[in-house]
Amino acid sequence: MKLCIDRCACRRVSFQSLLALVGDCAGDVDCVMLLTGAGLQCGRCRPWLARALREHLPTLEVELDGRADAAELLQHFQPDEPERG
Ligand code: FES
Repeated sequence: MKLCIDRCACRRVSFQSLLALVGDCAGDVDCVMLLTGAGLQCGRCRPWLARALREHLPTLEVELDGRADAAELLQHFQPDEPERG
């Protein structure tokens, strides 16, 4: 099962909107995080946020199979979707 991650769920800010700031920060991911607060609350989005900004991708697919934190990621990034068995 795959999960599409396209935002910092805590700050409710999309990677797409963060991509618009990459140039202002000379590509510095930490600068984008400090400007917006994205990635600075729970930190779960950080690996994907950093990759999205580095690779200029608004959405990343994350393979959940085999991940110990799969249920936690689903709940955090898609809290309104029912769990699938
Ligand atoms: S999901 Fe980005 S800080 Fe929590």
